[in-house]
Amino acid sequence: MYTPAITGTGVFTPSQIITNAELVKAFNAFADKTNTQNAGAIEAGEIEPLAHSSEEFILKASGIEQRYVMDKSGVLDPDVMHPKLRQREDDEPSIMAEMALDAAKKALEQAGRTAADVDLVICAASNLERAYPAVAIEIQQLLGCPGFAFDMNVACSSATFGIQAAADMVRSGSVRAALVVNPEICSGHLEWRDRDCHFIFGDVATATLIERKEDAQGPHFEILSTRCATQFSNNIRNNNGYLRRSRPDGVKDRRDMQFMQNGRKVFKEVLPMVSKHIADHMADNEIANTDLKRLWLHQANKAMNDFIGKKVLGRTPEDGEQPNILQDYANTSSAGSIIAFSQNSNDLSVGDLGLICSFGAGYSVGSVILRRNA
Ligand code: COA
Repeated sequence: MYTPAITGTGVFTPSQIITNAELVKAFNAFADKTNTQNAGAIEAGEIEPLAHSSEEFILKASGIEQRYVMDKSGVLDPDVMHPKLRQREDDEPSIMAEMALDAAKKALEQAGRTAADVDLVICAASNLERAYPAVAIEIQQLLGCPGFAFDMNVACSSATFGIQAAADMVRSGSVRAALVVNPEICSGHLEWRDRDCHFIFGDVATATLIERKEDAQGPHFEILSTRCATQFSNNIRNNNGYLRRSRPDGVKDRRDMQFMQNGRKVFKEVLPMVSKHIADHMADNEIANTDLKRLWLHQANKAMNDFIGKKVLGRTPEDGEQPNILQDYANTSSAGSIIAFSQNSNDLSVGDLGLICSFGAGYSVGSVILRRNA
C-alpha cells in the first residue's frame, strides 16, 4: 500500500463578473416586464406578480457579493435570463474540457509534473454537458495523459468523492498519479428568473493532483483519511435528463428542469449531518479540534460555514482558520472547497492538520483529512 498526497491544485476563474447590483437590476427589469405582460392575469387574481430581488437580502442571507460566469450578456438580458454559450463543433474542445484543462495545467505545474506522469483523470462535477463520450476522456486526450479517465457526478460533493476514489486507487497501486478536475458551469442550470435562488451560483473549474507521497516533488499534503456519506433527499433537485423527450409534454422548459431547492430545509437538515460527519471522521482518526489548523468548507452560505466552523472547532474560528471564498465566487458547487484549499493552504507549516469538507445535493457529504509535509 502507498500513501496518497495532494501535490498540486489549480483554479480556472472565468473573466466575467456579475456583481449583486448588476444581477438585481437585471432581475428587477425582468420581473417588471413579466408583470406588465401578465397584467390581466395578475389583475384577475390568477397569478401572483413577481416580487423584486434585493442586494441587501442576498448579502445578508448568503454572504455572496459577486460571481464569475462564462457569459454574463445573456444572464443580464431581461429577454434571455440564461448564459449564451455557442454550440461547439464535435472536433473542437468542449467548454467544460477547456475550463478543466486550464485548472489541470496549473495543478501539474504546481506539482512539478507533466501530463505524461498522470495515469487517471476523473472529471467530477454536478452537471456534465453531454452523456458521452466522457468529458474526462476528452480532457485526458487534450492533456496527453496515458491510462484511463471517467466522469462522475455527486453534485456539490463531486470533488471530495473524486479525491476519495483517486486516493484509494493511488493507495492500492492501480494508478500512480490522478487528476481530479471539477469544471462547474452552474450558470447553465441555475434558474436566473427565480429570485429565491438567482444569486446562488457562479462558474469556475478546479483541479487536484493526487500522487504517492514519496513521488512528491515539493511541499504537499498527505491524505490521512477520506470519508463519504449520502442520504436521499429531494430538497435539492433537477429533473432535466435524457428521458425528457419521452415525456408527454415533450421538451417543454419546465421550472424543474433547472436547479430547485428548499433552502431553509437544506440549511436545517444538512448542518447537523455535516457537523456530525466531520466530528466522527476526526474522532475516528484521533484528531481533537485543538489539533486542526484549517477547515476548507463547501462554499454555499456564510452563516452555514460560520455554524459548522464553530461546531467543529468548539469556538468561533479566528480569521483565516476557516477561509470563505463565496463572497467572490458565490456557490461553485463541487469546486468551492477546492478553491478555498488552493488559495489558503500554502502558509501552513509542516505537520499542520486541515480538513476539506463538501456537502450538498443527494444529500451528500465528503471529507478529506490532510497533513502538511515538507
Ligand atoms: N430578494 C429579496 N427577498 C427575497 C429574495 C431575494 N432575492 N429571495 C427570497 N426572498 C424572500 C423570500 O420570498 C422570503 O420572504 P417571506 O418571508 O415573505 O416568505 C424571505 O426572503 C426569506 O426567504 P428564504 O428562502 O427563507 O431565505 P433564507 O434565509 O433561507 O436564505 C438561502 C435563502 C438559499 C440563501 C439559504 O436558505 C441557504 O443558503 N440554504 C442552504 C443552501 C445550500 O446549502 N444548498 C446546498 C448547495 S446547492
